[in-house]
Amino acid sequence: MLAQSIVDESTPTTKPAAARTIRVGLIGLGNVNQAVARLAPETERLSGAGVRLRVVSALVRDVGRVRRCPRPARVSTNAEGFLRGHYDVVIEALGPIEPARTLVARLLGRGVPVVTANKALVAAHGRELTALAARRATSFRYEASALAGVPFLGALAERPHVADVSQFAAIVNGTSNFVLSTIEHQRSSFDAALERAQALGLTEPDPSRDLDGLDAADKFSLLASLFGWGDVPATRLEVRGIGGLDVADLDAARRTGHTIKPVVYGARSSSAIDAFVGPALVPLGQPLAALSQTLSGIQFSGRFVRDLFFSGPGAGPEVTAATLLDDAIEAVSTVRRLRKTLPPLAAPVVVRSPNTGWFVRVQFPGVVPDAHAAQGLFAAAGLTVVSTVDGSVDAQWLSVAPMPPAGVQRALAQLRHTHRLALHAIRRL
Ligand SMILES: NC(=O)c1ccc[n+]([C@@H]2O[C@H](COP(=O)([O-])OP(=O)(O)OC[C@H]3O[C@@H](n4cnc5c(N)ncnc54)[C@H](OP(=O)(O)O)[C@@H]3O)[C@@H](O)[C@H]2O)c1
Repeated sequence: MLAQSIVDESTPTTKPAAARTIRVGLIGLGNVNQAVARLAPETERLSGAGVRLRVVSALVRDVGRVRRCPRPARVSTNAEGFLRGHYDVVIEALGPIEPARTLVARLLGRGVPVVTANKALVAAHGRELTALAARRATSFRYEASALAGVPFLGALAERPHVADVSQFAAIVNGTSNFVLSTIEHQRSSFDAALERAQALGLTEPDPSRDLDGLDAADKFSLLASLFGWGDVPATRLEVRGIGGLDVADLDAARRTGHTIKPVVYGARSSSAIDAFVGPALVPLGQPLAALSQTLSGIQFSGRFVRDLFFSGPGAGPEVTAATLLDDAIEAVSTVRRLRKTLPPLAAPVVVRSPNTGWFVRVQFPGVVPDAHAAQGLFAAAGLTVVSTVDGSVDAQWLSVAPMPPAGVQRALAQLRHTHRLALHAIRRL
């Protein structure tokens, strides 16, 4: 629901014949903006947009730090000095919300187009900055903030009917996806898969936000905001991590025609958002099931479309820089087009944990009972078992009919207590 109106963006004119030099300011010169500075010289050859990007200034914290990129003409820690510069577009890749918000607002206020990769900034202030850009007849673009390697927002931006999204499922965290798919395909332990991700430089120094689902929950909030679902803080979501899963779980899932993926899911009705973040059984026939390693993707449906699917590489500095540069080129081009504005904010809504089916690993203290006996045990606790997969000597996996998470957790707590079972439940998408 990226609402739009037809306007003539009053940005400079691109001359198709001769390349126009575009003065670029960089806020931050870390992993992402160093990649921007490395790729910027290639833009003229690649884009065919008739622009040559020249990085004229970068704002940093530490001028003395070694950078892996051509040095911009000016590198400074002086924010006021940076703001006095003359730019055709500024690319923001700082990280925290402040001082990014203040700097971006001041630039937009002067009519300077800004593009950003900062998901925290867009989730918290995207709406006000987009409105400010509209008032100043300039651009605020944020394609790189959500699934940076999957530029789907641009595809929706000029398609308001298609963009009327009411349900989505996505894989948004490359580290969790890499760990689960490495466990499945390399048959490694959880710890070995995580070590491999760390050796390949795919993780943050502290990977817990990725593995516990917190990074994915932040991305859910951003997507909900971009789709016009309102303000859904991550703290209101049901969030589970991928910890505790192993190769036996993935094998059992496969025997039921599924795999396990780290998913964010949301469905919007007029009165509520049903949402969860966490590992879930995904049918092998669904496109999300095919995304392994660090691939990301989103599948969504709305009033007019069903199961549109976009996928691509998980975020990394190079692909994020490429998306930022595409946004920058769009921001300085002059084509008369629909201007993106965020959809009106929905009224506050109830956020609920949906009823779904469940996949429960049961480890028995002694001999595994036959399927009939196990089903009786679970039925007595209030769970309807629809199928069973036998695993190793002491384990069984049960597919449980849809029910609310509170009911499942209550039943599992009872069974742990009465029968000393070890139980682990994940959702079925
Ligand atoms: N890394 C990715 O693959 C990726 C992908 C998609 C989106 N993003 C987003 O892109 C943004 C940047 O990520 P990154 O990996 O490039 O981060 P990073 O390597 O930590 O770089 C941050 C940059 O911001 C500068 N900085 C931080 N606080 C500052 C302040 N108060 N004043 C001036 N400069 C300041 C730092 O300066 P110094 O260098 O002097 O310390 C550094 O150059 C984040 O919002 C991130 O979520 C990243």
